[in-house]
Amino acid sequence: MKRAQVLPASDPESIRLAAEIIRSGGLVAFPTETVYGLGANALDSEAVAKIFEAKQRPSFDPLIVHIATRASLDLLAQKTGAVDRRLMDAFWPGPLTIVLPKRDNVPDIVTAGLSTIAIRMPAHPVAQALILNAGVPIAAPSANPFCYVSPTCAQHVLDGLGDRVDLILDGGSCPIGVESTIVSVSESSLELLRPGSVTLAELRDIMGTSVRAAAGTTIVAPGQLPRHYATKTPVTILRAPGARPAIQARERAGLLAMSAPGQENEMFCAIEVLSSSGDLREIARNLFAALRRLDSLGLDRLYAEPCDEQGLGLAIMDRLRRCAVHTQ
Ligand code: TXA
Ligand code: MG
Repeated sequence: MKRAQVLPASDPESIRLAAEIIRSGGLVAFPTETVYGLGANALDSEAVAKIFEAKQRPSFDPLIVHIATRASLDLLAQKTGAVDRRLMDAFWPGPLTIVLPKRDNVPDIVTAGLSTIAIRMPAHPVAQALILNAGVPIAAPSANPFCYVSPTCAQHVLDGLGDRVDLILDGGSCPIGVESTIVSVSESSLELLRPGSVTLAELRDIMGTSVRAAAGTTIVAPGQLPRHYATKTPVTILRAPGARPAIQARERAGLLAMSAPGQENEMFCAIEVLSSSGDLREIARNLFAALRRLDSLGLDRLYAEPCDEQGLGLAIMDRLRRCAVHTQ
């Protein structure tokens, strides 16, 4: 079985090789500011099919296409409106994905047959260099097997997809740690399809008040399955930070703590503290790596503290709920 090459993204030769692989229809995992992506030439349907195969991703779940310049929009989207352009001016390059009407030359496999396409211009210098060098738009989902936690470093990609990708560009840990915010524009209002690192408040600042958050935890982006980020170990979300879980007799439990936990820690076999000060950016950055570490211990259950669903907290709780079986 083949094993992916892992090359340092800081070496221009690695980028050149990665771009060559993309152009010739292969798969490259690369860092973005949110999570690592599993990239292929978005205009090559056979290359894109390899993404679905590698991830075991169902074909009804469309991909995000990554671009490095606004000029590439013309290849992919039929048109952009004034609101779309305002969003691009404010948030691109960066962690915002915008859903636009697609052009016919985009293979159907990319968009799962939808008439729309999700596009993002990542800010990460490695992602930008790769797209520019490849000279084609890059379709990329998160570089994890379908339904597992997204990868935030090269080792995570190697662990999950090491035998199914041609090259992994190692650019260190992702600075944001949760996936991009996804929005679609209808008439003059905006719908939030997936909460992410661009917050509702930031969108409202640009848009005025006309931003509709998806009601409650309803899934609006296709493929946003309820247990999308499932860990192998069942996760229970606690009622409040510091709440005492009802641990079953002989249950080996782990705790995912948002901030430094108080007393009574002896009931847990392992504790991961996401941020000693409870800082949401730090929590987001550490979330997936901490979940993966806890998940590797073979415990019976993980208890996760909730955080306030404000700002980045909305995306953090969204991801935790997709891991969780139930709330206690
Ligand atoms: O931060 C990110 O967005 C990362 C990095 C690699 O860019 N990518 C990522 O991709 O999270 P993925 O495939 O794991 O999630 C993409 C989401 C899916 O839930 C999919 O349903 C939604 O984007 N999506 C794609 N095309 C769409 C469309 N035309 N309309 C609505 N949702 C769409
Ligand atoms: Mg994903």
